[in-house]
Amino acid sequence: MIGAESVSQTIPVHPVQTAYRKIVTQELPPPQVRPLMDMSAHYEPRAMLGQPPVVWDRAEGFFVYDAYGNQWLDFSSGVLITNAGHGRKEIAEAIIRQAEHGLLTSYVFLNEPRVRLVQMISDLAPAPLKKVFLVSTGSEAVECAIKLSRTHGQNLNPAKKIVISYHHAFHGRTLGAQQIGGIPALKEWIGNLDPDMIQVPFPDGFRCGDTSFAFFEKALESAGVDPKNVCGVVAETYQGGGASFGPREYFQEMRNWCDKWNVVLTFDEVQAGFGRCGRMWGFEHYGVVPDLMCLGKGISSSLPIAAVIGSTELMDLYPPGSMTSTHSGNPICCAAAVANLELILREKLVENAALVGEVLHQELWKQLKPYDERIGAIQGKGLVAGIQVTKPNSAQPDAALARNVVWHAVGRGLMLFAPVGFGGATVKICPPLCITREAVIDGVSALAEAFADGLS
Ligand SMILES: Cc1ncc(COP(=O)(O)O)c(C=O)c1O
Repeated sequence: MIGAESVSQTIPVHPVQTAYRKIVTQELPPPQVRPLMDMSAHYEPRAMLGQPPVVWDRAEGFFVYDAYGNQWLDFSSGVLITNAGHGRKEIAEAIIRQAEHGLLTSYVFLNEPRVRLVQMISDLAPAPLKKVFLVSTGSEAVECAIKLSRTHGQNLNPAKKIVISYHHAFHGRTLGAQQIGGIPALKEWIGNLDPDMIQVPFPDGFRCGDTSFAFFEKALESAGVDPKNVCGVVAETYQGGGASFGPREYFQEMRNWCDKWNVVLTFDEVQAGFGRCGRMWGFEHYGVVPDLMCLGKGISSSLPIAAVIGSTELMDLYPPGSMTSTHSGNPICCAAAVANLELILREKLVENAALVGEVLHQELWKQLKPYDERIGAIQGKGLVAGIQVTKPNSAQPDAALARNVVWHAVGRGLMLFAPVGFGGATVKICPPLCITREAVIDGVSALAEAFADGLS
């Protein structure tokens, strides 16, 4: 079972004032928020207690504020949500406009913002990804991709129902998404796992040294999988647990293999999409196009909405009324997403992610150099990076040190979410895509100081 770890409900305070970060209270959290925290602990499951205890009051651009004068430079984007930046006026105004217009929901009856959004996403996606099904969460999008892959496969041959995914993968917390995930501890509760959902090593070059495509085929063979019975391969474009990409050649061979065996290739772009990796779609780094992609998080920089995109052949597998969801295409969420995409395009935030992303990765390598015996890998592209924290000079994850680093960073005015990934030891960096070069340099300097704090 998942361990009952206790999470520190205090943060070490390092008073600081830079152009980007301001920590002015003597305690973190300030004593005034204790009653709110106590109420949350009373009324909410303890599973909600995993993050550094900051009560977010408001957020703007790449800053987060509490109500007591503290200001954080944000390296979290919530959890890779706010690609266009926090609290963007244009998005807030679109939400207000739609609410005041007088339509708050419409189930799957048509509404105009929904059609505008699917057209925009379709125009941004490469062929044949032209039909867009809107849902509410990334997990729901992944469930839908599994369903479409299996339906497509079983229409060809009833035994064609094996879904291949990857060790250490995370695709969400619903039943199917969790089963195709590659973290065994998260699926113990399921009991009778689907034997046709199989995970193989992800070619990240760190946790899995053999990044050849031949290794994928060998893994299938060892698992007794006949390729003709595979209906789908689902891969995070980069593995969120470490921000790790596979080699370009691997996914090019994967594309050919999927074509050869009539397998639906899905990239889960819930984290990677909408410019995060310095390209509109993360899979552009591989030079291939999947058959389906799942989107979420950065799609609206705000309200809950997600999507599955695919070819007409795949997306029209189900007849009218049989692939829907209550909040599909909620007009307010769609209006927010349209405003968000307009901002990403108008402000050239994808290009900014590529340029400032270069600076981020250079600075991480430079400023974290003194701690390299405790860093197994720094991975990622564009404005996402994962720092895999390890025991000295080994690949063994050091969750305690990673947690210490994050808590000290937050105490220095740098907002990070709790460590993720293998062994809970990856410090993830993912600022809003509107961040500047100077802010990134300042943030990485806070992170370097937090490493020193964490080790002292
Ligand atoms: C790659 C990936 N897929 C799917 C999900 C699930 O998205 P949601 O939490 O919106 O259900 C996540 C969430 O972290 C994710 O990172």
